[in-house]
Amino acid sequence: MLVGIDLGTTNSAVALWKDGAPQLVPNALGKDLTPSAVSLAKGGQAWVGQAALDRMATHPADTVTSFKRMIGTAGTVTLAGTTLTPEDLSAMVLRSLADDVEAATGERPSGAVITVPAYFNERQRRATRRAGEIAGLEVKRLINEPTAAALAFGLADRGDREPFLVFDLGGGTFDVSIVEMFEGIVEVRASAGDNRLGGDDFDEALVRLVEPLLTDPDALARLPADRRHALLTLAAERTRRALTTADEADFTLVADGTSLTARVTTEAFEEAAAPLVKRLRDPVIRALRDCHIDVKTLSDIVLVGGATRMPVVRKALTRMFGRFPNTTVHPDHAVALGAAIQAGLLSGGDGLEEIRITDVAPFTLGVGTATRDQHGRYHDDIFAPIIERNTPVPVSRMEGFRTLSDNQRQVVFAIYQGEARDVKKNVKLGELTVPVPPRPAGEVGVDVRFTYDTSGLLEVDVAVPSTGMTRNLVIVDEDDRRSQKDVEARRKALEKLKVHPRDEAENVAMLARAERAYEGFTGQVRDVIGQGLTEFQGALDKQDPRIIADAREGLGRLLDAIEANPPL
Ligand SMILES: Nc1ncnc2c1ncn2[C@@H]1O[C@H](COP(=O)(O)OP(=O)(O)OP(=O)(O)O)[C@@H](O)[C@H]1O
Ligand SMILES: [Mg+2]
Repeated sequence: MLVGIDLGTTNSAVALWKDGAPQLVPNALGKDLTPSAVSLAKGGQAWVGQAALDRMATHPADTVTSFKRMIGTAGTVTLAGTTLTPEDLSAMVLRSLADDVEAATGERPSGAVITVPAYFNERQRRATRRAGEIAGLEVKRLINEPTAAALAFGLADRGDREPFLVFDLGGGTFDVSIVEMFEGIVEVRASAGDNRLGGDDFDEALVRLVEPLLTDPDALARLPADRRHALLTLAAERTRRALTTADEADFTLVADGTSLTARVTTEAFEEAAAPLVKRLRDPVIRALRDCHIDVKTLSDIVLVGGATRMPVVRKALTRMFGRFPNTTVHPDHAVALGAAIQAGLLSGGDGLEEIRITDVAPFTLGVGTATRDQHGRYHDDIFAPIIERNTPVPVSRMEGFRTLSDNQRQVVFAIYQGEARDVKKNVKLGELTVPVPPRPAGEVGVDVRFTYDTSGLLEVDVAVPSTGMTRNLVIVDEDDRRSQKDVEARRKALEKLKVHPRDEAENVAMLARAERAYEGFTGQVRDVIGQGLTEFQGALDKQDPRIIADAREGLGRLLDAIEANPPL
């Protein structure tokens, strides 16, 4: 079975093609979204999803979120003494989603279509694919998130559509795609974005605004840095959500047993967020320019991603486009549903015969070259594009180069992705060296062929026609060349972690939630939560499922009541 997975910075979701429609698969807590969060304890105990997110407040040093922002880098995190790569962490989330599918259907998915931001580069794409493999999923295809959302949008009416723009602002990434639909073909005309812009950045801006205004800054200063950061970020996210439906909201947190608060107005937040809102503009302009489409001819501006709920973003969009955006697709579900449509397409799902998708390459790909100017001076590190950005994929292009020096013995091609003329400003993907016969400068030709597949992944072939010599390069990570064997090793290492069994997930999540609430309040409320926790733990000890379920529901109702109306 093939599933579609939206592996998000903040939330992930899994869906499958069933009975002629894409359907989300709920997790063990009955929710469609699983927070992309992982927490560990000494001894290898592991939490994934909502329980892990709740542990962020109580165990910040052993908990991590937003690790998608690190994927494709050599960075690692150490939680409770265990060091994990961003791929490992993503694999843990993917595995938990696969568990959910298995629980819902009785069958473990063998493969997946995983979505990535359109503006993910080669390294980030390869790392995402490796995460899938570590999780035991064959990654049949990577599909761009706005493309997936466009598929979900298009499937709803299946009519022809003038170009529309998909505006996807999630927790960590921002993508813009311009898409057209005719005769069952979904054609992405251009995409652009910023893979470091999302709700997380708005949280940071709010923290910077509020930190100096808090009632008791000393209580905050006494906390260790990771704890302070976790509490501030969590409070910022809560406040930001509150500001979506109200003009003012209280930023509140409990630090070191003291309640701190600051009132935030929409006006102050919008001012703090202005530099971020400004950054939403350039990718829109670039995408439109690349496909020569006038903003006036766009038929719709389709919103995707939780952060597009922010009024400050909607206002900016209405100004930018001179009209109200289209909010008919579900901002949290569209990407996973689109991935399930793609999974259905790949496995010949019923009702999908007539749909085709074409996508584009997000970045220009090329090689670093050297040239001589008319004065014979040598300039190196100049980018020679071979496949321009927004070229439809799959695509294969060849470019011919000649030797530059007399009796040169080899030609080195460094492969880059990016837009800058100076290759040092682009992302280096790898290097290929081919031997050439010693001849006068310019006499030996070398052909370089770049092939971009439908997942946006690159392969490079170099040939020297005069000698028949060829070299092939499948891009691997520059920093650490992880091989298939490493995938196995990582899978085994992750299997040693003790993730709570799925049938205990609800209890584990309730414990984590109650502990977070206990730390988040003071005084009498805290005592009440403490009592509730003791009772729940007592019920757990009895090991009777009925008693446990009753106690869990009781504690849940208590927490709902407190959180719906938090006392200050
Ligand atoms: N009601 C709301 N008001 C304001 N912001 C919201 C609201 N609901 C969700 N968000 C924000 O949306 C973001 C998460 O969106 P989403 O789940 O689409 O991201 P993601 O898919 O995990 O991330 P990405 O696509 O960037 O990898 C968070 O920053 C969250 O604070
Ligand atoms: Mg998303």
